[in-house]
Amino acid sequence: MEKVLIFDTTLRDGEQSPGASMSVREKAELAVQLERLGVDVIEAGFPVSSPAQMEGVEAVAASLTHAAVAALARAVKGDLDAAAKSLKQAKRGRIHTFIATSEIHMQHKLGKTPAQVLQMAVDSVRYAKDFAAEVEFSAEDASRSDHQFLAEITAAVIEAGAAIVNLPDTTGYALPNEYAEMFLDVRRLANVPPGVILSTHCHNDLGMALANSLAAVRAGARQIEVTINGIGERAGNAALEEAVMALITRRGSLMLDTGIQTKEIFRTSKLLSSITGQPISANKPIVGKNVFAHESGIHQDGVLKHRGTYEIMTPESIGRATGEIVLGRHSGKHGFAKKLSDLGYAPDADILEQAWRQFCALADKKKEVFDEDIAALFEDAMYANVPETYHVEYVNFTGGNTSIPTATVVMICAGERFQEAATGDGPVDAIYSAINRVIRIPDIKLEHYNLAAVTEGKDAQGEVSVRVSSGGKQYSGRATDTDIVLASCRAYVNALNRMQGAKKTE
Ligand code: KIV
Ligand code: ZN
Repeated sequence: MEKVLIFDTTLRDGEQSPGASMSVREKAELAVQLERLGVDVIEAGFPVSSPAQMEGVEAVAASLTHAAVAALARAVKGDLDAAAKSLKQAKRGRIHTFIATSEIHMQHKLGKTPAQVLQMAVDSVRYAKDFAAEVEFSAEDASRSDHQFLAEITAAVIEAGAAIVNLPDTTGYALPNEYAEMFLDVRRLANVPPGVILSTHCHNDLGMALANSLAAVRAGARQIEVTINGIGERAGNAALEEAVMALITRRGSLMLDTGIQTKEIFRTSKLLSSITGQPISANKPIVGKNVFAHESGIHQDGVLKHRGTYEIMTPESIGRATGEIVLGRHSGKHGFAKKLSDLGYAPDADILEQAWRQFCALADKKKEVFDEDIAALFEDAMYANVPETYHVEYVNFTGGNTSIPTATVVMICAGERFQEAATGDGPVDAIYSAINRVIRIPDIKLEHYNLAAVTEGKDAQGEVSVRVSSGGKQYSGRATDTDIVLASCRAYVNALNRMQGAKKTE
């Protein structure tokens, strides 16, 4: 079967979305997992935009062994030079240069004529050819561009050396039939040679990113640009897990293969969620908590008789844990380390130690420790692995239906000890207010708070993810604990520590 390339842009288009920013170390870690997942190209960032972006692409380039690493650049020399610099250590580097081709973008955003845009595209591809083994050109807002002009620019950039031409639905506006027609028109009018790959890149503003990506593939596109969990600008991008599982589940109709190791999908999705602190909604296709759960009696009866009655794919095929009881308070450290490795984690000694300590504490509180608990506490240990600008030494809270929720915290900040108390709407609000009194960051704001149970049962751990903002930027934090108020406290402090860590590199 013919192959369709998977181009992952979680670290670039995905990272551009609010609350999804990642440190350099986290980017490299996710990139290694993406390579294990089997993606063909990893777009690692937009190097000209900040020193942290440059460092992120460099770190990813140095970490990969066989996947190509792409760096984004507008069609201007400064961007292309930055992209070239960021890829110096890449075994397979790709410069991805773009310029908008729709009338509305050319006139209002760029203030350029189509002829000027075409010249900039050609010049940038020619220039990039000297610095990277592969050059990809994107016609931004292609789906709202004139097909004749798109074909002209496509033919010209191919002539200049672009091996991949991407035709994005930048605004998530296209209908699947229109998007497919654009690919057919461009291929025909530009007379695209067989060695050149046309690529699809879809945003989800009208919920059609996946449908449009598949329509493009049916119309001959052989690269799909996607992100894990569908994160990305505004409503996000087409989700990798959805595109890949659609190609596999409907292989009989679509007749295409990918190089994706599907058993790595769930782990990659969880890793991203734990790095960004953004929870996965329960009904998110493929990776959501409820996707393989059958609630109604009729469905349960059907599945018990034959799984295929209501399941079109299996949880095992994407590497989901089975929920079996795994370890308890008498389990040893070796067994714990082996379990982590069975779940696909490869912790360094510090993280293993931290996760082990958390496991012992959890096993004392909780009768049954499930795979999901182990995964949550490992991800917790990884997420908490940031320098501790703030440390909560003591926290106490009171509340009830006849008293005002009040909290006291004692914190160590840069070696100094502070104590504060505050009241609030509830214990979490009171703790956050007391912490805010200690840290004294005037514009700190809690943007998002989410609490989810890791497993079933009244002794389940609560997983809290938060997002805070300061100075126009957002930072996420997370923590799990059987005590949800303590988890909330730790998640908030984790976000503050991550903020301070990020500020040092900004
Ligand atoms: O959505 C878009 O058009 C993009 C391009 C930079 C490829 O992200
Ligand atoms: Zn995009």
